[in-house]
Amino acid sequence: MEFNTIIEPFRIHSVASIAMTTQSQREKFIADVGYNLFSLHSDDVLIDFLTDSGTGAMSRNQWAAIQRGDESYAGSPSWLTFKAAVQNLFPFKHVIPTHQGRAAEKILFTAIGGAGKVIPSNTHFDTTRANIEYSQAEAVDLVIAEGRDPASLHPFKGNMDLVALETFINARGIENIPVVMMTITNNSGGGQPVSLENLKAVSAMCKKYSIPFFLDACRFAENAWFIREREVGQSERQVVDIVREIAALADGMTMSAKKDPLGNIGGWLALNDDGLAAICRNLLILTEGFPTYGGLAGRDLEALAVGLSEVVSHDYLKYRIRSTAYLGNALAQMGIPVVQPIGAHAVYIDAKTLLPHIPALHYPGQSLAIELYKIGGIRGCEIGSVMFGRKPDGSELPATMELVRLAIPRRTYTQSHIDYVIEVCEEVLKRAPSFRGYRITQEPASLRHFTSEFAPL
Ligand code: F0G
Repeated sequence: MEFNTIIEPFRIHSVASIAMTTQSQREKFIADVGYNLFSLHSDDVLIDFLTDSGTGAMSRNQWAAIQRGDESYAGSPSWLTFKAAVQNLFPFKHVIPTHQGRAAEKILFTAIGGAGKVIPSNTHFDTTRANIEYSQAEAVDLVIAEGRDPASLHPFKGNMDLVALETFINARGIENIPVVMMTITNNSGGGQPVSLENLKAVSAMCKKYSIPFFLDACRFAENAWFIREREVGQSERQVVDIVREIAALADGMTMSAKKDPLGNIGGWLALNDDGLAAICRNLLILTEGFPTYGGLAGRDLEALAVGLSEVVSHDYLKYRIRSTAYLGNALAQMGIPVVQPIGAHAVYIDAKTLLPHIPALHYPGQSLAIELYKIGGIRGCEIGSVMFGRKPDGSELPATMELVRLAIPRRTYTQSHIDYVIEVCEEVLKRAPSFRGYRITQEPASLRHFTSEFAPL
C-alpha cells in the first residue's frame, strides 16, 4: 500500500547547526543592516529561503567524489567524468565548463549578441537579460498570457506563446535573431514548467526559420518531472528519457549547475555548432580557464557528475515536488495568496493581495519579507518594485507583481522545518493588517535590491 506521507528519501549524514534567535534579537539585526535581507549575517537566519542556488546539500557519494578530484590543468580524468555525465543527459557535441550559469551566458552572448540583435525567450532570467543587454542586444519575453496571471491554474505556465513568437520572428527578421531561448522551469515566472509539446513546437518553428534553439536548463529535472506528472502520455516514462528528448530538440544550452545538478558551484555551455563552439572556447580561455576545467576545480567536476545521476531519481523528484507543494498548499489553505500552481523550487507569496493597504512604492513585498524574518527568522526575497521599480531613465514605476519568493534549497530542510514555516506564516497572516510600508534611504545606481537601505514608514 502507498502511504500519504512522502518521507525525505535520504538520511542526514552531516549537519550544520542553526542558531536559535528571538524576535527582539532579529528586530535589532535587521534594523542594523538597514532592513535589507541580503545584508544579514546568515548565522542570524533560522530558515534560509533566499535562493535554491548553490545552497543544496551534497550526498555522501558527492563528497566521496570530491576526494577523487584530479586537479591536472589539462585533460584531467575528472573532466572526462564530468563531460560524460553531461552528455549522458544532454548529448551536445561540445561541453564548455564554467564557474556558474551567468558565465556561460556571458560567453554565449558575447559570441552571438550585439547591437541590433534581439533574443526571445519564454522569460529571461535576470542575469540572462543583463548579459544580453550588456552586449547591446535586446531581450524579449514571450510567455503565454496565463504565465503572467498568478491565479491561473494552467499546468504549463512557462510555455512560449507560439503565435507571438512567429509574429515576432517575421516582424524582426531571422537575420536579427541569433537564438531563441527557453527557460526550464521558468524561474522569473514563478518556477512554472514548460510542456514537451510546447518545446517541440518551438523547436520546429526554429528549424522552419533556421534559428538556433537554446535551453536555459537549470531546473531541467524538475521540469521533466512536471511533464511526467501533467502531460498526456508521459506518466510511464523515465525522467532521463524525457530529459534526453528535450535535449534532442535543442541546438545548445546554458546551465547553472547550482540548481538541479546538485552542486554548490558550477555551470556549462553546451552546443553542437563547431564554429560557435570554437569562438566560445576562446572566450572561455580568456575569462574562465582552460577548456578541460573552465571555471571549476577537478573536484567540483566530480561532484557535479554524481549530482547529475542523483537528480533524475524518481524518488528524489517525487519528494522534491511534493514537499514544495506541501508548503504552498498549506499557505493557500490558510488564505495567504500564492502563485498557482505551486512550482518546484519555490513558493511565491503575492504581497500585493496580502497587504492591500501598502501602496506598491511603499514596497509591500519588502515589508512582508522583513516581517517573515522578524517574526520567524525566515529569509525570503522580494521580487517586486524594489527589484524592478527603478527604470533606466531614473524614474520609479510599480512592478507588475509584488512577490516574495521562498526558494527551497535541495535536500537541506526537513518536514519539521517546513511545518515551522507554516506556523510562522499563520502568525504573519494574523498580523498582516498592522505591517507598514518602507522607504529607501540609500540606493546604488543599479541592481538596487542587493544593497539598498530602508526605513519603516
Ligand atoms: N538562469 C536561471 C533560470 C536562473 O534561475 C539562474 C540563477 C541563472 C540562470 C544564473 O545562474 O546564478 O549560476 O549564475 N538563479 C538564482 C536564483 C540566482 O536565485 O534564482 P548562476
